[in-house]
Formats: sequence, C-alpha cells, structure tokens
Amino acid sequence: MKAVMATNNVNKLHEAQEILAPLGIEVISQREAGADIEPEENGATFAENAMIKARAVYDIVHCPVFADDSGLCVAALDGRPGVHSARYAPKGQECEKLLAEMEGVEDRRAYFECDIAYIDEKGSGTFSAACIGSIGTQARGENGFGYDPVFCYGDRTFAEMGEEEKNAVSHRGIALRKLYEVYQERYGEQDAEQ
Ligand code: IMP
Repeated sequence: MKAVMATNNVNKLHEAQEILAPLGIEVISQREAGADIEPEENGATFAENAMIKARAVYDIVHCPVFADDSGLCVAALDGRPGVHSARYAPKGQECEKLLAEMEGVEDRRAYFECDIAYIDEKGSGTFSAACIGSIGTQARGENGFGYDPVFCYGDRTFAEMGEEEKNAVSHRGIALRKLYEVYQERYGEQDAEQ
C-alpha cells in the first residue's frame, strides 16, 4: 500500500521509508502527492500538532496520510522544550543552548516523544511513543539532526549511533512500527504487504 507522510522534512521521510518499506508500505512525501503546504503547528500537544498536519494534507490528497510530531522533554526544565523543540533555538544551535541551560544541573533525565496521527477513508487516530535517556554534558557525534548530539541513550549519544541502531530504539522508530500495526489492522496483512 501507499501512504503519504505529511512532512517537508527529508530526514523524517527517509526514516519512515527505511522502517516501513521492508514491511511493504511505500511512503511518499506530501509534495510528491501534490500537497505543497506548511500548516501552522499551533496545537498544545504533540498529538494535536500531528493531527493538524495530517488533516491539512488529507484534505488535499484524500488517500492514507500520516504525520508525526516530536520533541525533547527535559525533566529539570519542566518538560521543555517539548512541543516547542523545533523553535527552541535557531537551527543548528539547539544543542549549545540546551547545554548552557543545563549547566550545573544534576538531574539530566529527558525523553524524546513522537506522536503519530493517521487519517484514511475509515477514520483517524493518534498514538504516542517515547525514548527515555538523558542530556549529556557536551555534544558528541556527527550523525542525525537536532538534539541528537546531546541526547544520551546508554553510554552513547544518538549522534554517535548509525541510522539503523537509532531507528531500533528511537521514539520515531517505535512510533513508525506501531503505525505498521495500525495499517495491518485496518487493511489486513495482505493489503499492507502489497
Ligand atoms: P517537529 O518537526 O515539529 O516534529 O519538530 C521536532 C523537533 O524536535 C525537531 O526540529 C528537533 O529539534 C527535535 N527532534 C525530534 N526528534 C528528534 C530526533 O530524533 N533527534 C533530534 N532531535 C529531534
């Protein structure tokens, strides 16, 4: 089956294709599907934002659509940057800003959350996944994007892991594998594997 991912972020599209292609789901971008839009993400939660994006694209393409919304929640910052993760600092400066804010803070606990919203002709839904880790004291690693160099999972940061390794444990990896289960339930194993 074919599904449209409501995103203009090529990293996310690539991650979704990597995880869902072996399961028989061809993921195409919203642009490829003819929806060249960027809806305002003004929801109060990850789930609301994911649904805003999915709905806006579905209203144009009218075929199975999913969208994710994600971010980093830091315990010592009362859950910030949370839904504002993408706007916390100028692109490329988020790690530096977070490390400065966390300087001298003992409680380093943090988690990434990823919520996915899906819509098709049968209806819609949302679900959530998380990856629990901690904030390092310095940026390490060259891979990934965003907060990857300061998010520690075990004794390495996400930026020190390969793509496959990260996908196996990450919030988005877990959420995308749940999405496959949702599609299997909705379309049956045969359709999902066509
Ligand atoms: P979204 O595109 O609205 O979901 O924004 C998510 C923001 O959270 C991104 O711009 C990143 O700053 C951050 N983020 C989400 N997932 C990850 C990840 O896997 N690694 C690093 N940063 C992430």
